[in-house]
Amino acid sequence: MINDIHSSMMSSMPLAVTTPSLNNIPPTSVFHPSTPQAESIAKLFYFDLAIAVFILAIVVFLLTFILIRFRHKPGDRMPYQQHGNYKLETMWTVAPGFVVIALLVATAVTMHKVHPPQGDRKPDIIVIAHQWWWEYRYPASGVVTANELHMPADTRLLVEVQAADVIHDFWVPDLGPKTDANPGSSNHLWINPHTPGTYLGTCAEYCGGAHALMGIRAIVESREDFDQWTQSQLHVPETPTDPVASRGAQLFAERTCANCHFIAGTDAQARVAPDLTHLADRDTLASGIIENTHSNLMEWVSKPQSIKPSCNMPDMWLTEDEANAIATYLEELK
Ligand code: CUA
Repeated sequence: MINDIHSSMMSSMPLAVTTPSLNNIPPTSVFHPSTPQAESIAKLFYFDLAIAVFILAIVVFLLTFILIRFRHKPGDRMPYQQHGNYKLETMWTVAPGFVVIALLVATAVTMHKVHPPQGDRKPDIIVIAHQWWWEYRYPASGVVTANELHMPADTRLLVEVQAADVIHDFWVPDLGPKTDANPGSSNHLWINPHTPGTYLGTCAEYCGGAHALMGIRAIVESREDFDQWTQSQLHVPETPTDPVASRGAQLFAERTCANCHFIAGTDAQARVAPDLTHLADRDTLASGIIENTHSNLMEWVSKPQSIKPSCNMPDMWLTEDEANAIATYLEELK
C-alpha cells in the first residue's frame, strides 16, 4: 500500500520532520477504482483471476483424485505403460488455446476502453516527471504547479505524460494505469475521476537515488473548487512587506535558489526545479513526503540532502535565522 510506504519511508529519518496526515485519504489500492479507466482494469484483473482460480481448482482436484485413487497398494503390479494419446494431447493443446484467446480478447477490449485514440484533442494536463518531483501544466489556463495535481471531478481529462531527464512512471492506482514517462516522447492517459478526494500515487519505475521519495498527490475536486483553485494559481503574489519575509526574498535571490525555481512576479524565472509561486497553498513539501509546516520548510531548505538524499537541491549552509527568513517568505506565496 502506497499510504504505508509514504508513512514508513520517513519513520527511519532522524530529523524532526512530520509526514503528511493520511486523514480522509482512502487506502491506495487498485481495488478501489475511482475512474472508469481504473474500473475497467480492475474488472480485467477479476476476469483473469477467475480463469486462473478455475484452472487451479481443476488441477488440484485431479491431482488429489489421482493421488488417492491410483496410490500404490501392496501386491500391485507395474501399471500399464502408455506412450502418446492423440485425442488427449489434442484436447490439452486446444483447451489452453481457447483460454489464451479469451484473455487476449478481454485485454484488447480493456485497452480500447482505457486508451481510446486521442484524435486531435489537446491535453488538459501535461505531467512532466523530473528527478525527483512532478511538474503539472494546464495548457488552457497557463497554470504550472508541482507535486499536487488538481483535477475537476466528472470531467474526461486527457493527460500527457513526459519526462525531463530519465524514464519515470506516473501511477495513481485508484485513478488509472501506470504510464511511462519517457524523455523525448510522450504518452497519453485518459482519466475521468468521479469521486472528489485526495488520491496518493508514486513513481513506479526506478529513476535513481530518490525514486522512492517521488510521491504524487492527486486532488479531485468539484468543478467549482477546481475553477477557484485555477484562479488562485493565476494570482501573482504581492512583494512581501514584513521585514523577515523581505529578508527571505533577498536571500532567495542571493543564495541561487532563483537560478532553479520560478516565482511569478520576481526575478526567479527558471523551470529546473518546482514552481514555488503558490507553495503556501500546498499541503506537502518535497514531492509529497513531508507536511507543509514552518518547521518542516526550515528543515527542507536548510538540510535538503538529509530529507531527500541525492536530491538536486544543494545544501546552502543556511543559518537558522536565514532558513527562518526564507521559510517565512515562501509561506507568503499564495
Ligand atoms: Cu521517478 Cu522513479
